[in-house]
Amino acid sequence: MRRKIAAGNWKMNGALSELDALYAAHPTPTVDVLICPPATMIAQARKGAIAIGGQDCHEAQSGAHTGDISAGMLVQAGASHVIVGHSERRMDHHETDVIIAQKARAAYQAGLIAVLCIGETLQDQNAGTTLNVLGAQLAEAMPDTATAENTIIAYEPVWAIGTGKIPTLAQIAQVHAFIRTELTIRFDDGADFRILYGGSVKANNATEIFAVADVDGALVGGASLKAADFGPIITALQNA
Ligand code: PGA
Repeated sequence: MRRKIAAGNWKMNGALSELDALYAAHPTPTVDVLICPPATMIAQARKGAIAIGGQDCHEAQSGAHTGDISAGMLVQAGASHVIVGHSERRMDHHETDVIIAQKARAAYQAGLIAVLCIGETLQDQNAGTTLNVLGAQLAEAMPDTATAENTIIAYEPVWAIGTGKIPTLAQIAQVHAFIRTELTIRFDDGADFRILYGGSVKANNATEIFAVADVDGALVGGASLKAADFGPIITALQNA
């Protein structure tokens, strides 16, 4: 049985008071709940039943990398997870699949669970190359040492992030089935990896998305910032 997970990515936003409200509303969630706040909030955020993660880590353990944070430093601050390969990092910081694989390895070495993001652009979608693009991202960005214990896959169509648009449920089902097949071909424990959907997940579409086969939860941006928005998504997942 794959344990479901509701993950929030606060990006460069968020307030610790919302986390307190979330702890209060969901003291004993029956699904995994993860919040990835800005790195400066991680140390204070660590309490209660909600796991805390970073939004990125550097691929090296230490060194002359101004402004970067290592996976080990995230662990020291209290993180158990780290997002790697988010499309905003791929775009803003020119991260390639090769770099993302290095970051995932750095996460494993530090004992973090990597939430590894993949997703096609609107251009890919229009060209009909979505599955090819996703297959290539999985092949290159996932290290051979990935396991269902140390890695969670997040499928996030770039065109669905922050836009209020989501793929059809049939499209989500097709992609998640594809990812599951790729994982089972490559990894002995491929059936056990959790695969999250991300991109404009809200309380009002969460239930239908969570009902799709091979959707083991969500990676949520905007709707994770407020406990009043994220709480119902956690509830929807618990009821799924
Ligand atoms: P969104 O972001 O929920 O605001 O679309 C999702 C993400 O970027 O992880």
